[in-house]
Amino acid sequence: MAAPSSAGQVPTYRLNHASVVLSGASGERQILDDIHFDVRPGEIVGIVGRSGTGKTTLLRVLGGLVGVSEGSVELDGKQVRGPDGRAVTVFQDYANALLPWRTVERNVGLPLERGTSAAERRERVAEALSLVGLADYAKEHPRRLSGGMQQRVQIARALAMRPQVLLMDEPFGALDAMTRAGLQDEMLAVRERTSATIVFITHDIDEAAYLSDRVLVISGAPGRIIEEIACPLPRPRQQLTTRELPEYLDIRHRLGLALGADGGH
Ligand SMILES: Nc1ncnc2c1ncn2[C@@H]1O[C@H](COP(=O)(O)OP(=O)(O)O)[C@@H](O)[C@H]1O
Ligand SMILES: [Mg+2]
Repeated sequence: MAAPSSAGQVPTYRLNHASVVLSGASGERQILDDIHFDVRPGEIVGIVGRSGTGKTTLLRVLGGLVGVSEGSVELDGKQVRGPDGRAVTVFQDYANALLPWRTVERNVGLPLERGTSAAERRERVAEALSLVGLADYAKEHPRRLSGGMQQRVQIARALAMRPQVLLMDEPFGALDAMTRAGLQDEMLAVRERTSATIVFITHDIDEAAYLSDRVLVISGAPGRIIEEIACPLPRPRQQLTTRELPEYLDIRHRLGLALGADGGH
């Protein structure tokens, strides 16, 4: 599938010259500088950068958890003023994101416990679990599941909220390579089935190139977007054949150069 056209559409996100200053132990520090980009409806945007460049802070800005000190952030044409149900975050640390004493289905249903009827909750939980291939594990406790399955539970919990946007902070970083590949494909399948817009963070240039419609490279302290690379690779993407395409290798190469990966270490 080609990247959606932006003609005449309200962007899902519009960051307009946004800067972030946070106060820490040693006083105020600028974390992000002049961040300026749009995310189109249904797009998958990867944000790649080294550790400490403000990636998590940027995702928190998108989720309404951190305010900007300059510029503005709009979701669907409206200023983001705090967290709301439209954008939901999936964290890297699935073990701490789930409640161990609750079953899988009760973890997934947790955010729906206010504001939805038991019947609707049941339906949405079942639908979310089946979207991530966990329909048979509803009654299990998280600790009985592998890391990859626990991360699927966290993704299901986000999907049960039927968000417009999934924000994912290095969602597969804690998983082994095989599990990671499986979850990457799961994420692409979820996008196809729900048309959610996805913004995810990674420090892995292969993951960024494989999953994204477009990759933003963030660098420096304060972090700035130093490059934007389109990834018009055919979809559905496939772990072996996509990664062998000359266009894929070219994107990967450009990402590596932007990150200084050929001389940095
Ligand atoms: N709440 C905070 N208060 C002050 N400084 C912070 C806060 N959160 C993160 N930082 C600082 O901002 C910088 C970027 O952090 P972060 O957004 O976590 O980067 P990344 O995810 O790219 O590793 C780091 O130097 C970090 O110490
Ligand atoms: Mg981070």
